[in-house]
Amino acid sequence: MADTILELMDVTVDFKGFLAVDAVSLSVGRGEVRTIIGPNGAGKSTLIDLITGKTRLKFGKIVFDGADITLRPPHEIAHAYGIGRKFQGPNTFFDMSVFDNLLLALRGSTGVGKSIFYRRTDDARGKIDDILRIIGLEDKKDTLVSALSYGEKQWVEIGMVLAQDAKLVILDEPTTGMTADETYKTGEMIRAMRKDRTIIVSEHDMDFVRQVAETVTVMNQGKILAEGTFEEIRQNPEVIRVYLKE
Ligand SMILES: Nc1ncnc2c1ncn2[C@@H]1O[C@H](COP(=O)(O)OP(=O)(O)O)[C@@H](O)[C@H]1O
Ligand SMILES: [Mg+2]
Repeated sequence: MADTILELMDVTVDFKGFLAVDAVSLSVGRGEVRTIIGPNGAGKSTLIDLITGKTRLKFGKIVFDGADITLRPPHEIAHAYGIGRKFQGPNTFFDMSVFDNLLLALRGSTGVGKSIFYRRTDDARGKIDDILRIIGLEDKKDTLVSALSYGEKQWVEIGMVLAQDAKLVILDEPTTGMTADETYKTGEMIRAMRKDRTIIVSEHDMDFVRQVAETVTVMNQGKILAEGTFEEIRQNPEVIRVYLKE
């Protein structure tokens, strides 16, 4: 690939003898939307934990934007290198407004030097307005997070990742628990936010994968089973056998 932003080389995660990620090599291009699919337990979340430094690898090497980030701590991967990740479950302050949650995320990620810059509220406001547009909550910026629907809360969390100015945004099954309409809107959001970012999204909803994916990586039992366009994946006999059989 001409411009690779993330490269995993033969990475392996060993949980006391169980290889949750088994010698995986993967390249993601700058500006790409990559979806990772696979049955439950395939190793998708573990692979994401590995990239973000939450789980440590036993073998292998991870290079991000030209830097070796293998075994770097999570806070450094997030803030120094710029890999943002939306966790499953709530990370928002329910008794604060959507706007204030985004402002906190913006301040929290910028460190001492840049926080002086963001005291100039016009800068922060402009940036938060951009994020509100992407996550479709412009009309609800003053609403308390506690009053939002489940899907809207998830979007605030996506917005908080965007506020971190990450070069790579990773979303682990972002549409879990969402209605079909919310799932579709989340797909449109991902298409809108990819403009100047690279996105990795693990997912199980194939309509959503069709909607957002450029390249699809299929995992099974800790390994990469297949990689290709949505159509290639959909017609791949091995993928159909282990994953799409329903
Ligand atoms: N901390 C852990 N200790 C031991 N086994 C784990 C741990 N985390 C995940 N696993 C196992 O690793 C495999 C992959 O899990 P996971 O990455 O969560 O899969 P996926 O996200 O594709 O559903 C599963 O068999 C899971 O039980
Ligand atoms: Mg998972």
